[in-house]
Amino acid sequence: MPTELADDQHRLALRVVAMPKDTNQYGTIFGGVILSYIDQAGFVEARRHGAHRWVTACMDKVDFKSPINVGDTVSFYTSTTRLGTKSVSVAIDVIAERFANASSVHVTHATMTLVSVNQDGTPIPFASPPTVHEPGVEG
Ligand SMILES: CC(C)(COP(=O)(O)OP(=O)(O)OC[C@H]1O[C@@H](n2cnc3c(N)ncnc32)[C@H](O)[C@@H]1OP(=O)(O)O)[C@@H](O)C(=O)NCCC(=O)NCCS
Repeated sequence: MPTELADDQHRLALRVVAMPKDTNQYGTIFGGVILSYIDQAGFVEARRHGAHRWVTACMDKVDFKSPINVGDTVSFYTSTTRLGTKSVSVAIDVIAERFANASSVHVTHATMTLVSVNQDGTPIPFASPPTVHEPGVEG
């Protein structure tokens, strides 16, 4: 883990290898693919605060600082930056370990807000008892 993120506040949510199918016409990884992973990483972080459905309300800001190349190992670190009642805000830092020389580069930073909802999609306090259950299990 890169030293600049080596604290208790940043957790590894996802790690993937950038594949040729994800490239744009310039040969680097398409931004939309990274946004999809950022969305998933945000969900992983939000779920720590309650076993509910969580939906993305907004992505405030996404800074693509450096490109991601095919073969890079890409890690998504998350931290909760705000705890509301029915929503949490999450920061996502994306680190690419270059295939060519294993150096680590902080490629992307994003912030987003997710809202806990019940089965009907109505926002609920995330401190509520779990509202999701194993399929087929009553509770
Ligand atoms: C997100 C959504 C559930 C909010 O519903 P809502 O009725 O407007 O929510 P409420 O006004 O009751 O607010 C609930 C919480 O969400 C927060 N919130 C709602 N919309 C927000 C937004 N656009 N940005 C940031 N926070 C937002 C509120 O501040 C509140 O937080 P708090 O309880 O921690 O103070 C609803 O707009 C929705 O279902 N959107 C689609 C989500 C989706 O499908 N996302 C996937 C991408 S397509």
